[in-house]
Amino acid sequence: MKRTLVIAKPDAVERGLVGEIVARLEKKGLRLVAAELRTIDAETAGRHYAEHASKPFYGDLVAFITRSSSFVVVVEGPEDTWKIVRTLMGPTNPADAPPGTIRGDFGTIMTENLVHGSDGPESAAREIELFFPDLP
Ligand code: RTP
Ligand code: MG
Repeated sequence: MKRTLVIAKPDAVERGLVGEIVARLEKKGLRLVAAELRTIDAETAGRHYAEHASKPFYGDLVAFITRSSSFVVVVEGPEDTWKIVRTLMGPTNPADAPPGTIRGDFGTIMTENLVHGSDGPESAAREIELFFPDLP
């Protein structure tokens, strides 16, 4: 799988960090193949984060991801591009994320961690189909 889904989450759009995030993806050598500014609806959020439906943080997660516009992007690169994006993002908790990563440079709290990246080839395929069903 050479493509992966990236979401600059509502906090990133609200803070004007979309350009910074996209620039990092592009400077790394990844190519944008689709992008859309959209407010993710509750149904799409539920399908996207279905694996977390039973977790205690699920309600906060869905409320956060649907609260305002996200910038949803498909990027393309070499095999396992999802892994490259996860490395650029840093660990889930920005408090643990090292400088140089998106979360490490711009975040402090768990929910508002700026960016989503697919966590494997199957997730990437599923999430690209969810957000961009017509992408050739
Ligand atoms: P994402 O899916 O958003 O890219 O983040 P991730 O893979 O790094 O982390 P994941 O385990 O998939 O969790 C999804 C989002 O849920 C929030 N979360 N809160 N309070 C908690 O223990 C907790 N754990 C996860 C985070 O905002 C995370 O991005
Ligand atoms: Mg995840």
